[in-house]
Amino acid sequence: MRKIYIFDTTLRDGEQSPGVNLNTQEKVEIALQLEKLGVDRMEAGFPAASPGDLAAVNAVARAVKNASVVALSRSREQDIEAAREALQGAQDPTLHLFLASSPIHRKYKLRMEKHQVLETAEAAIRYAKKYFSRIEFSPEDAGRTEIDFLCEVVAMAIRAGATVVNIPDTVGYLSPYEYGNIFKTLKEKVPGIENIQLSAHCHDDLGLATANALAAILNGADQIEGTINGIGERAGNTAIEEVALALETRADFFQAKTGLVLTEIARTSRLVSKLTGMPVPGNKAIVGANAFAHESGIHQDGMLKEKTTYEIISPATIGLKDSKLVLGKHSGRHAFKEKLIDLGYELNDEKLNEAFAKFKNLADRKKDVSDEDIRALIEEKLIQT
Ligand code: KIV
Ligand code: ZN
Repeated sequence: MRKIYIFDTTLRDGEQSPGVNLNTQEKVEIALQLEKLGVDRMEAGFPAASPGDLAAVNAVARAVKNASVVALSRSREQDIEAAREALQGAQDPTLHLFLASSPIHRKYKLRMEKHQVLETAEAAIRYAKKYFSRIEFSPEDAGRTEIDFLCEVVAMAIRAGATVVNIPDTVGYLSPYEYGNIFKTLKEKVPGIENIQLSAHCHDDLGLATANALAAILNGADQIEGTINGIGERAGNTAIEEVALALETRADFFQAKTGLVLTEIARTSRLVSKLTGMPVPGNKAIVGANAFAHESGIHQDGMLKEKTTYEIISPATIGLKDSKLVLGKHSGRHAFKEKLIDLGYELNDEKLNEAFAKFKNLADRKKDVSDEDIRALIEEKLIQT
């Protein structure tokens, strides 16, 4: 099995979610949980952005022992100096340099020609190399960059001393086929590519961030970047828990695995949701409240007979106790009977049928039928009989 490195950017790209602002203490709390989760690298922030972020990155750098702490930096000396200061005390620091490479960004944002992009990025990598042995370089908006120019940029980054080259689909524009092909082409065409790690960084504007990350893995990516719960700019980043569980569940297909401690996923998800103030949607894959909940009678009956009928992942894998059978208007007699047994009621067939009919009437009127509702329904019935 090939190992896929996990680069978590919850504290940087994740914090760029509109409305999210983590203070130093909160960043350290999340960082220590990410360490328990077993991420290989964690991007703690963008030190040049504010003195507060510089201080927070430094606190994370000093607190974390078992992952490489990463600081983001534009390709300019002042940013590199800020990152250097922020990463003091880190056991295994990484500098993450970026410069946009796509025609749109070159023309409107940077106002640079191709050769200026190459020169600016190369100068920054060479400058940083004096201080950092681990340097990741990202051609921002790589996804919309001409492939020949992208090959040139990646070759330059390798020559200048980058140890990881990241291929961001900054605006979540590509299909899995196209994104995977970029990795394939870089592997075929760029000299020295075998000496560095290739990383995938996807955004979810078209809902394709996880699919694109998996396509990158199938085409040779060594590292996946993403966030817990998929938070991040606009529609967010690749959700790390989705990639990890896809690789775990379909190891037969992907032949690759992360080194994550999967049983820490639910806890990490809850902590990130609490401290960022971003609720996890109920239907969110892996960590949503409904990810292991079953409502329809047919599904509940299957689950009661054999869980693998409707569950491809056991909740215990991500550190949850059990799946939930939710009682609602779609539920069947089998699940209702099990619920009654759980609540301490054993009814004969006739009484069970009567109670079930009453339950269905109630479920037609009420979205969530709680344990209390069921108790009330049975007690009322018992009193009447
Ligand atoms: O999406 C992006 O391009 C980024 C870069 C800074 C890597 O987050
Ligand atoms: Zn990003």
